[in-house]
Formats: sequence, structure tokens, C-alpha cells
Amino acid sequence: MANTRMVTPHNTELDRGESGLRPTRLEDYIGQDAVKANLAVFIEAARRRGEPLDHVLLSGPPGLGKTTLATIIAREMGSSIHITSGPAIERPGDLAGILTNLQPGDVLFIDEIHRLSRAVEEVLYPGMEDFCLDIVLDKGPAARSIRLPLNPFTLVGATTRVGAVTAPLRDRFGVINRLEFYTPEQLKQIITRSAAILGIAIDEPGAMEIARRSRGTPRIANRLLRRIRDFAEIEGQGKIDLAVARHALNRLEVDCIGLDSSDRRLLATIVEKFGGGPVGVDTLAAAISEEVTTIEDVYEPYLLQLGFIKRTPRGRVVTPAAYKHLGIGVHQGDLWEAENCE
Ligand code: ADE
Repeated sequence: MANTRMVTPHNTELDRGESGLRPTRLEDYIGQDAVKANLAVFIEAARRRGEPLDHVLLSGPPGLGKTTLATIIAREMGSSIHITSGPAIERPGDLAGILTNLQPGDVLFIDEIHRLSRAVEEVLYPGMEDFCLDIVLDKGPAARSIRLPLNPFTLVGATTRVGAVTAPLRDRFGVINRLEFYTPEQLKQIITRSAAILGIAIDEPGAMEIARRSRGTPRIANRLLRRIRDFAEIEGQGKIDLAVARHALNRLEVDCIGLDSSDRRLLATIVEKFGGGPVGVDTLAAAISEEVTTIEDVYEPYLLQLGFIKRTPRGRVVTPAAYKHLGIGVHQGDLWEAENCE
């Protein structure tokens, strides 16, 4: 169910039309200031030398703009981008086909790069390091390999789990960057920019309200904006202000800090079934009928960021801040009142 949530950070059918909102130049990209400033230097240096940019690994929770940054890198380098993903490259031959089709300086973007198989990774190593393909001929004692040169290229790898990228792969990236959740102020700027592109009027309090409920994630901000535009056009005066934003977000069941019913259910399950924790992630996954990876990649990053759950060696624990926000259960003898969300 996670993929149809209004606040899922993953790219879903809810995001059709999102690409028109993505910045295409580094100077239009809002936030991730440290990453952006460093990339600008590396891109300019590579351009001056007439070389492709070194391979770049981008990590961080989904929806923060990894694909967007890869597209910007290609554009700034004046080259083309080829987009694929770890699970899509099933066999070594699939990757060999992709690599031999790259033109000099092209950017190859591999999303979810931690999901490449070992056999495919083995083909990628000489590709990244020496821009060549080792082709093994024959089997057994007669086996020998020939090296096929490739055009120099830049690999941009993206992952939500940098710890799951194997050490030999990670070591072959010259630039490793982690994207962080955006601040409400940065999201407000993104929402204001997107509203202008969509042609919907929005005032500052309206934009800030959406920003606060977007879980630090531009993809969610843009998705909420498009739905709120619908409410503004059909039930309002065609302008997004604070009242319209609040009305729409309440209808979408996204609370004042961006939690939806799935987040609340996860927290309530830990509190009600497991005494607030600690509870192992496998047990929790079974209790709410979700995949462990969905809990780890989709629910937890934002709840950890808010300080609503903690990871301990014995499992997940719900914190007093979460009890306070949700007004659920009893924490250490105190009955918390739900925080006023307005
Ligand atoms: N749209 C999505 N992400 C963005 C970003 N980081 N800056 C500007 N617009 C965006």
C-alpha cells in the first residue's frame, strides 16, 4: 500500500508531470548547498580539462532529487544521460550492451545501484576504472579474455542504502555525496517555484504550510501542491492561501508535520502491541503487514529525523515526542494530550 500514499517519497503514478517541475541547471536547484557547491567545482574542473566528470555516488532517502541531480550533471557537462536501475540490469550482457552504446562523456545513471548483482558489478569495475570491457572467451583451461575499449563516461549511481553498496563498488566512485532532508524554508522556495511553473497563485503562508507537511522531501511537496491546486480551483477561488492549504491537506489526511495514517498506524502498533518497544523490525513488519525494506526505507527515515522513533540494538522504540504528537497511549505514567495540529 505504501506506493499509493499521498506522502510516499517514491516515484509513483501520483507524480505524472513531475518532470516538468524539475530544475535542469545547477543554479535553479534549491537546497543541498554543500553538495551543489562541490559539484559545481568538480564539473567546472572537468570541463576545463576536457575530461568526463569522475564517477559520482549519490545516497539518501527517496524523493530528494538524486535523478534530478544526475540530469543536471549531464546537462552542465553538455552530454547525454542514459537512465537505468540496478534491478533492470539483470545479466552482465545487459550492462555490456549499455556500456558499449555510450558516447564520449555520456552520463550513465544507475538508480538503486546497491541492487546490482555481483556478476553485473564485476563487469562494471573495469568499465569504471579503465573504460574497458573484459570479455571472457571459452571456459575452463582454454578461457582467456580480451579487452574492449569503451568511450570514457561518467557513472552516477544513486542509492537509498549506501551501506548496502559493496566496498569495491563504493571505492570506485571519486565523488560520494549524501543528500539530506530539505528544511521547510527550502521546500517553501521549491513550492513557490513549482506553483509559478504550474500557473497557480500561492501566497507565502500557503506555501509554508505545504512545506511543513512535506516531510523534508521535494517530491512530496510537488505532489501535495498539485492536489491542493485542484482544491483551490474547484472548491476555492483559484488561489492557494493558508486556509485553502489547510483545508486541502486535512482532506488529504496529511497532518501538520506530514504524517499520514500509515505512519500513525506504525507508531500506534509499537505503542499498543509492543509497549512502546523495543521491537525487532521483522516482528514489526509482520504486525503491520509491510516489507522490512519498506519500513526501513520509506517510513523510518522521516520518523527518525523527527525523533519519533529510535533504533536500538534490541529494536525500535517510540519516543516521548511521538506520544506527545499523536496523543496515543501512556508514556511512563503520563497521559499525553495530542498536540494541536492547527
Ligand atoms: N524540484 C524538485 N526538487 C527541486 C530542487 N531541489 N530545487 C528546485 N526545484 C525542485
